[in-house]
Amino acid sequence: MEGVIDAHARDLLTRRPGFDWAVTEFVRVVDARLPPKVFLRHCPELETGVVTPAGVPVALQLLGSDPEALAANAEQARDLGARAIDLNFGCPAKLVNRHDGGASLLRDPRRVQAAVAAVHNAVGDSIPVTAKVRLGFSDRRLALACAQAAADGGATQLVVHARTRDEGYRPPAHWEWIGRIRRHIQIPVVANGDIWSLEDYWKARTLSGCRDVMLGRGALADPLLAPRIRHWLSTGERLPDTQWQERAAILAEYAALQRSTLPERIVTSLVKQWLNHMRYRNDEAERRFQAVKRINDLEGLLEGLLAGLGHAPQKPGLTPPGAPAGTLCHV
Ligand SMILES: Cc1cc2nc3c(=O)[nH]c(=O)nc-3n(C[C@H](O)[C@H](O)[C@H](O)COP(=O)(O)O)c2cc1C
Repeated sequence: MEGVIDAHARDLLTRRPGFDWAVTEFVRVVDARLPPKVFLRHCPELETGVVTPAGVPVALQLLGSDPEALAANAEQARDLGARAIDLNFGCPAKLVNRHDGGASLLRDPRRVQAAVAAVHNAVGDSIPVTAKVRLGFSDRRLALACAQAAADGGATQLVVHARTRDEGYRPPAHWEWIGRIRRHIQIPVVANGDIWSLEDYWKARTLSGCRDVMLGRGALADPLLAPRIRHWLSTGERLPDTQWQERAAILAEYAALQRSTLPERIVTSLVKQWLNHMRYRNDEAERRFQAVKRINDLEGLLEGLLAGLGHAPQKPGLTPPGAPAGTLCHV
């Protein structure tokens, strides 16, 4: 997720079994072939086998509208070691759409197909090309046609965020529409949008008929949501709610990782940004957010997050990869 989930966040979110794969923030492609440093900035995992430290594979996402430029940059990414290219046709941002990227291509399925086909032709069968769409731009009339276009272009998997671009992030997500798309096309479809809990997960799976889901904001709000789903799938047991101590440990570790490369001022705002996501349906995160929102130094912020915990919180455990399939996701 652009500006929110970078390699450090992917590292933290994938330390416990839950995610089968992750996706980078989008690399914006305009016309030129971008230099390697841009790809390495978005996907430092290129230097370590394109997996997170726990071994979860990372797909590299491109966003653009010019087929030739997308193809040239996909080749560049592949040459740098990318193991999967994901194409973003879902971004609703006005600036991106004004420059004819993201969800704006959903107004014309031929353009979706041309972009996917160009990338697929460029990388051949050496690495998979996947796509991410919404249900449409202003309405859902082209939902099936765009999904079909991505499949016809050579996408091996389609993630569907169950809203149109104009619906932004407003609930509800129309999971039943993902089911219509799933029944219409021959490639695997992954359900995305508004999965915040185990109950949402099951409802999204039931209404879409999809075996796999992608988590976005829900994984930030509760960093143990994917492990909770995975645990429930493999044992039938519900794990208890994620305690503040565990959330604080993740935020503290996130600060420590970011601090190694970024100025404290930026780290402070990144930690607050994640805390802001944690407030959703969590009273303690809300209380802590209100207590620290005007603190501008990192030490003070961390003190506010850890206050009253008695002792230093445990670091999130690093668990070996190789968990059973079932859920998945996007980070
Ligand atoms: C701040 C923010 C940044 C995002 N950046 C990306 C991105 O770079 N690539 C992408 O495919 N989706 C991106 N998304 C969309 C999410 O991946 C996801 O499709 C959407 O938020 C709906 O799922 P959710 O309800 O689980 O969050 C972003 C969403 C948000 C809120």
